[in-house]
Amino acid sequence: MVKTMGNVFVMADTVDKAIEKKDPRYTYSFDMLGEASTNWEDANVYYDKYLEAANKFEDSISVKLSAIHPRYELKNYKDVISTMVPKLAAIARVCEENNVTMFIDAEETRRLDISIMVLEELLKTYKFADNTIGFALQAYQKRAFWVIDTLNTLAEHTHSKLHIRLVKGAYWDTEIKQAQQDGLDFPVFTRKEHTDISYLACARKLLHSEYLTCAFATHNPFTVATIQHYTKNKDKEFEFQKLYGMGDGLFEQISQNMPVRIYAPVGEYKDLLAYLIRRLLENGANTSFVFNQKVIDPFIELKKEKKPISDWKTLYKNRINSKGYDLTDPAMIDYMLDTPTHPEQDEEILSVDETIKILTDYQEQWSNTTFEHRAKILLACADSLEEEIISASNRLVKYAFKTYPNAVAEIRETVDFIRYYVEQAEKLYKENIKPSYTGEQNITHYNPRGTWMVISPWNFPYAIFLGPICAALVTGNTVLAKPAPQTLEIAKVIIASMHHVGVPENALRICDPDIEQAAEAVKDERICGVTFTGSHKSAKTIQRLIAERDGPIIPFIAETGGINCMVADSTCLPEQLVQDVTHGAFDSAGQRCSATRYLFLQKENSKTILHMLKHRMKVITLGNSDDLNTDVSRVIDGEAFTKIQERIAQLEENEELIATKSRNGKTLPKLTIPPSAYIVSDYKQYFDEEIFGPLLHVYVYDKNELDEILNFINNSKFGLTLSIHSRVTRFYENVSKKMKVGNVYVNRDQIGAVVETQPFGGYGLSGTGPKAGGPNYLLPYVWEKHISINTTAIGGDTVLLTDDRQT
Ligand code: FDA
Repeated sequence: MVKTMGNVFVMADTVDKAIEKKDPRYTYSFDMLGEASTNWEDANVYYDKYLEAANKFEDSISVKLSAIHPRYELKNYKDVISTMVPKLAAIARVCEENNVTMFIDAEETRRLDISIMVLEELLKTYKFADNTIGFALQAYQKRAFWVIDTLNTLAEHTHSKLHIRLVKGAYWDTEIKQAQQDGLDFPVFTRKEHTDISYLACARKLLHSEYLTCAFATHNPFTVATIQHYTKNKDKEFEFQKLYGMGDGLFEQISQNMPVRIYAPVGEYKDLLAYLIRRLLENGANTSFVFNQKVIDPFIELKKEKKPISDWKTLYKNRINSKGYDLTDPAMIDYMLDTPTHPEQDEEILSVDETIKILTDYQEQWSNTTFEHRAKILLACADSLEEEIISASNRLVKYAFKTYPNAVAEIRETVDFIRYYVEQAEKLYKENIKPSYTGEQNITHYNPRGTWMVISPWNFPYAIFLGPICAALVTGNTVLAKPAPQTLEIAKVIIASMHHVGVPENALRICDPDIEQAAEAVKDERICGVTFTGSHKSAKTIQRLIAERDGPIIPFIAETGGINCMVADSTCLPEQLVQDVTHGAFDSAGQRCSATRYLFLQKENSKTILHMLKHRMKVITLGNSDDLNTDVSRVIDGEAFTKIQERIAQLEENEELIATKSRNGKTLPKLTIPPSAYIVSDYKQYFDEEIFGPLLHVYVYDKNELDEILNFINNSKFGLTLSIHSRVTRFYENVSKKMKVGNVYVNRDQIGAVVETQPFGGYGLSGTGPKAGGPNYLLPYVWEKHISINTTAIGGDTVLLTDDRQT
């Protein structure tokens, strides 16, 4: 299949063969099929290929910038500019000598700003002949029309002429998914007609621009015809461009009177996949001209009513999704870095006994409030937190050493938890009338259990702290909140702002984070339920304390860690796996309970993957959490640091190191642990304890060993997350079915569960359930009272007797 498609859409596998196949009726722009590289080794290979192609082809070259830098991201702009611009200049120089253009391809929206920054630096630092530098502009971008002004001004100020290739855009589906996921407005149009019209508007603007030369890249006959119309009687220089293998019939005609350039990919089959999938989606899309072969006038099409695509706000049926924060927008980043965290709060912490007394005294009053009243207050808390997302994120960066993207994601998760639990409580209270036979009314009442204790860890000081607190409050329980000592400052601010927004001070109190004090509280019979998130060992201690209490047996929800595995077979996509495993194992310095601890690789492709992993780890940036460039910051405290170092020492002595992120001679912030990965000879050896740090154990397995490994993982009784990488459906279906874990992820990383979308929580040693952010979460927080009323007992069934169906 790949080979057949490759024959259609890829001109040749080598430069020499492509040169032989050139058709004299057309000019060309060759693309070396570079897809985003994950490490410097690949990026350098791609760069050499581009340079070789520029030298050999003597035709235009199209360069994908993500192929020549493994971290082509805005947050990394300093390094991108300093390393990429001289390389581009070298390719452009060759193009200039050949009197052709080096086009910069357009990629995902998040790369638009950085691509303009690269272009600007290139033009400001070097001087090239007119039209040596080309830039692709996507008309599906809502900003496209105005980007033309930026490009025109840039060309004017640098005394150059830029060659602009106007395209519609090839990443539409990815943009839609990404915006929904990140809680951001769509950066692209959501109706095809808008893209078509934007294309025409951009075309007119380009045709009127002084410093820009135009290339119109499209296969749509309506678009082509309209542009022909616009250019009639105009002497402005322009050309059409088409992709190799597409629009042949149309351009055979056009090329007779107008210049047509073919964008021709050149490369080997193994590098084709991403490009071919884009072509496959494009040709198969029911809005695409190529697919339905109908010439559609977008201005007429626009008049038809169409169902809009759900944006981030409307993604969930019964609640507003949390709003995201665009960390690929330079203005947003500046704003975030300049926003101070609000002054810290000095929330009063009373003795455990006094605090429990206040809460229990107030319990009845709080349970007597209506659900609507509690919901209103909690939704106001969610709104206020959403408004405060910047200072709350900054607080996480400062006290919990989170990176900015992780901090923003955690605040969004917290907002989602609150809104979701409110929605679930409403459902619980609404759906309480049970089906009955005539003459009887059956209603279940969901009553609060009483004062509830929430014991939270430091690794998610907002989400894991506030999630259970809100679940307990919304169901009418008063709450004793015990934060982790490491993140007490954050907890104080949270509690103070909840009080400020309207949660009564006596319904929610903070407790001394000291472990002894917390144990006193757990033993106190006035506590009616406990939610704990942390290690299995601590959960066991709490369970024993509860068991020793006299009086009623109370509910205990424990969410504990796991030894999370990623299992890959020989069909997995190495680039995807390497990105997912580095993210899963090292993001947040591995301090997530869902983090990847073990990678099981099948022998057949392990060499390639290990090689890529080693090089990928080199591009991880270590640093202070408040540096936007940092991928991995320090671990939480000295105790955690020592524990991780002990395991590293053990692995260092006995196992083979794959890679450790080198310090590159830099002094790292205190308590930073460079991520490392080791091949272990016996996978069973390190399965006893969860090590909460940036450390990955890798085991290379023989195909025959797989069943034994899966059984071993199951028998370990840890059961939190599992990731499976395979392109064989039967493989991932069988493994997901067999494994006793709470969350299975296929062909993706295994961290970052989203409220409602991925209810989260483990099995066995990893937790008691119910899952956080799932539909069953609230039930332990209430006790159910069922009331049956015999409505016929006092003289007959009035409802039945007056029922219309009697007549
Ligand atoms: P057609 O008229 O069928 O339009 C399809 C386009 O409409 C899709 O590309 C999609 O973006 C858009 N669309 C579909 N449904 C939509 C909806 N509901 N709402 C809004 N928009 C919708 N692309 C890129 O991103 N970067 C690049 O660098 C290049 N380079 C390039 C060079 C050359 C020479 C060509 C010909 C094309 C590219 N492309 C590209 C690809 C280009 O963006 C585009 O995908 C195809 O050319 C298809 O557009 P047509 O006008 O041919 O088809």
